Amino acid sequence: MATQTLSILDNRTGKKYELPIADGTIKAMDLRQIKVADDDFGLMTYDPAFMNTASCKSKITFIDGDKGILRYRGYPIEQLAEKSTFLEVAYLLLYGELPTKAQYDEWAENITMHTLIHENIKKLMDAFHYDAHPMGMLISTIGALSTFYTDAKDIHNPESRKKQTYRLIAKMPTIAAFAYRHSVGRPYVYPDNNLSYTANFMSMLWKMTELQFQASPVLVKALDVLFILHADHEQNCSASAMRGIGSSHVDPYSAMAGAAAALYGPLHGGANEEVLRMLDIVGTKEKVPAFIKDVKEGKGKLMGFGHRVYKNYDPRAKVIKTLADEVFEVTGRNPKLDIALELERIALEDEYFVKRKLYPNVDFYSGLIYQAMGFPVEMFPVLFSIPPTVGWIAQWEEMLLDGEQKIARPRQVFLGSGSRDYVVMSKRK
Ligand code: CMC
Repeated sequence: MATQTLSILDNRTGKKYELPIADGTIKAMDLRQIKVADDDFGLMTYDPAFMNTASCKSKITFIDGDKGILRYRGYPIEQLAEKSTFLEVAYLLLYGELPTKAQYDEWAENITMHTLIHENIKKLMDAFHYDAHPMGMLISTIGALSTFYTDAKDIHNPESRKKQTYRLIAKMPTIAAFAYRHSVGRPYVYPDNNLSYTANFMSMLWKMTELQFQASPVLVKALDVLFILHADHEQNCSASAMRGIGSSHVDPYSAMAGAAAALYGPLHGGANEEVLRMLDIVGTKEKVPAFIKDVKEGKGKLMGFGHRVYKNYDPRAKVIKTLADEVFEVTGRNPKLDIALELERIALEDEYFVKRKLYPNVDFYSGLIYQAMGFPVEMFPVLFSIPPTVGWIAQWEEMLLDGEQKIARPRQVFLGSGSRDYVVMSKRK
């Protein structure tokens, strides 16, 4: 017996129902028993955009949006950003605990040994038009991986899942870097397994004719921290896409192509690209008040502001703001930072934003760092796609192993036409 229940009195029938409350939720299926007649389908909930519906139980990531808290497997994001590395965080998210030295070494070795991609994948990427958006290339290539690793269909086999996990985490930077090199017309650089995960990515992006690429340790660390911050964010649009598509039991590459596509949109991972475009439109610090006025009049959004869950400062944005100073010491200050700071200052004092609890999110400052590092804006969503590979896989596997999950299939409220007879074309008005 549940210790807490919700009593519902149906005024239509006078019947009373007791619905158990567990973990702060009632089961939507328990509402189905509320009927006016035996042939009545039963009561449903209507929740467009899942504003108040938990679609799963999870042990991976915790967010308290009102307090601005983000934890991976219980560890505060600030501590992980300061003390951990991306590969260690990846292990934590996937397996639930921080690795011992032996576990970490084996894990890092397995990722490093899967960084190469098949030569035919390289040829496939070559086929894209010279000005193809690198995110379109990334999404297509992730999907194409399923044709190279047909063993990935064996999703109920833990060994197979482990293998695909290594492959996906290892190959994402290679594919991302190849997409970038293709877009700038440079030869692809193969992975250098003597480098760390992030340093190797930078080498594949920027190595020219030197024997080994020497990345700035400050920038390597900064990119690693950015990867930590983006590794998982519980049931966001792309993770939900991964779970939803994966619930059909398709292979993880196909599911992940869908997750990456969800991330591409300007309301999700494409937002940092939009922030930079917005800063260009604003142009100067002096024009910020006029821009804010336009936003308040509904003429556009303040990109990089607002969040479905955070109604406080996004904890990741706080870390990134500090990181920006360290990066700018090496790269030189991004002049757009002043416009961004002024936008933030004015917005945080303005009643429109205060009333709606709109604060800077993770994308507000990340683009400025990416741009200072030398990335074109088209690469921003690609960069944002590498770390959540870990979260997507963790969410996918948790979904597969959850006995309560089934194929995702929402209901609808049908408001269209009732039954009517077909009319031949000559008689239509
Ligand atoms: N600028 C101006 N007004 C805004 C903004 C914004 N960035 N975001 C929300 N609002 C307003 C919105 O118009 C609405 O006003 P009203 O109540 O008068 O209709 C109110 O605030 C509530 O917004 P909402 O659209 O109902 O909130 P949501 O939870 O559906 O949307 C969001 C969340 C992130 C899509 C939205 O805040 C947004 O579009 N922000 C800009 C895009 C962005 O930065 N996205 C990155 C999100 S963080 C990275 C990630 O995880 O993907």
